[in-house]
Amino acid sequence: MSTAPAPKTPLGKLSAWNDLKQHAEELRGKHLRELFASDAARGEKFRVEAEGIYLDYAKNRITDKTMQLLLELAAQSGLRERIDAMFRGEKINITEDRAVLHVALRAPKSASIKVDGEDVVPEVHTVLDRMSAFADRLRSGEWKGHTGKPIKNVINIGIGGSDLGPVMAYEALRHYSRRDMNFRFVSNVDGTDFAEATHDLSADETLFIVSSKTFTTLETMTNAQTARKWALESLKDESAIARHFVAVSTNAAEVTKFGIDTANMFGFWDWVGGRYSMDSAIGLSTMLAVGPENFRRLLAGFHTMDEHFRTAPFEQNLPVIMGLLSVWYNDFFDAQTVAVLPYEQYLKRFPAYLQQLTMESNGKHVTLGGETVSYQTGPVYWGEPGTNGQHSFYQLIHQGTKLIPCDFIGFGKTLNPLGNHHDLLMANVFAQSEALAFGKTAEEVKAEGVADWLVPHKVFEGNRPSNTLLLKELTPEALGKLIALYEHIVFTQGTVWQVNSFDQWGVELGKVLAKKIAGELAAPADLQHDSSTNTLITRYKQLRG
Ligand code: F6P
Repeated sequence: MSTAPAPKTPLGKLSAWNDLKQHAEELRGKHLRELFASDAARGEKFRVEAEGIYLDYAKNRITDKTMQLLLELAAQSGLRERIDAMFRGEKINITEDRAVLHVALRAPKSASIKVDGEDVVPEVHTVLDRMSAFADRLRSGEWKGHTGKPIKNVINIGIGGSDLGPVMAYEALRHYSRRDMNFRFVSNVDGTDFAEATHDLSADETLFIVSSKTFTTLETMTNAQTARKWALESLKDESAIARHFVAVSTNAAEVTKFGIDTANMFGFWDWVGGRYSMDSAIGLSTMLAVGPENFRRLLAGFHTMDEHFRTAPFEQNLPVIMGLLSVWYNDFFDAQTVAVLPYEQYLKRFPAYLQQLTMESNGKHVTLGGETVSYQTGPVYWGEPGTNGQHSFYQLIHQGTKLIPCDFIGFGKTLNPLGNHHDLLMANVFAQSEALAFGKTAEEVKAEGVADWLVPHKVFEGNRPSNTLLLKELTPEALGKLIALYEHIVFTQGTVWQVNSFDQWGVELGKVLAKKIAGELAAPADLQHDSSTNTLITRYKQLRG
């Protein structure tokens, strides 16, 4: 689409939006204690179980009417139509004139999804089969390095969506990974990242995966050139590059220019956004770590959640419910952030991964129609694995002045049963959401014999909302479902806010300026920036000597 889209009814003019505004005022003074006291079955009512994920959303500041209005908002926002348009391969990413089809990356062979009249599913499976064949050869030792040694170390070079997904998935699925191999990730243009990733490795046992959708990203290209130099310093032969470098990209021309044979390139497509690409060939490092079989289990998990999102009625639809609840707090309760708190050590990088997914997607202030919004859009997502967060920032969530809705994530079974560790871990999940919701009144504190002056310090106001997600065990399927759940939460939010969740123009200006300044740092230059930037550049030049 090269023209502006047809105008939509502005969000502020939707009757459900205005009803919610009014309803929020009715609920503002209500405490979760009262909501629970007035409905003994609340815990059984506000919950959904689907596709192996149990969502308890009873500890939210909602009533039946809230949910009814939020679901009405979804309907009035055209969520159903927009989901269908995405799955049909329509170019809903209008500012880049692209389809949005990460869902095609995990569609089974039998599916058919068309872009510009062409079925993309066969291509997806051709790449997957090539990745699997390569993974089998590498993991079995059949693929040899230049000196005849098998590959022991795999280093993914990429940034943003070409890094965060692979790192997160590697950490999340470590239990399923090859323990006799090293997997490392270099993203930052800070040379320390590369130096630390390679300092104890030998080049003849190392494979670099250069992962970049565009193959032009400054950080990745700089690290890839450094990797090339590092490898050639010991391998001393240009022909070694073919055994030690593979590329993942949509840009075959740039891959060839870099010197990687396209026979060693795994492609994907412009209809896969960077932050939605970890299940494309960008997941090659994941597949090398956990094997093709487990990678396909991961994809199956994604697909299960896709189908749930596409077909489940909204009142039982996990991403729709969670997306709408986040809109509720973001727009009617002035909540600025959402904390995602996985009580699973393997998910330690999940919040970092979600930061790009959520904030690069919905950090927008202009609607699809080009108007400046008059409401809040994407909240800040952040988090840490439990219980570590409890001993760090939970104080602010419990007693600070900000409202921070939390998503707790827990599992029925641990992959590392050790004494009663897992029960203790899970006891903390339940304790935290209970404490946040119900708090501790001044009367309760006084009854403990606390001195009057100390009472206010020990009161927990409560009424702090949370969702709790429970899954059975962290399998590849479970991880795929969780990631797809958040992808579709983002989609639901973006649809309500009427923003394009699939472009990222906000990252461009900094890139252009950095390129200009890099030139000015490389040679004497007449600095034409503002006085602060000029002074900083001059001072840096003095410092570096
Ligand atoms: O700068 C942001 C961004 O464009 C992300 O959207 C993307 O995931 C990342 O850079 C990396 O891009 P590429 O995969 O093209 O190197």
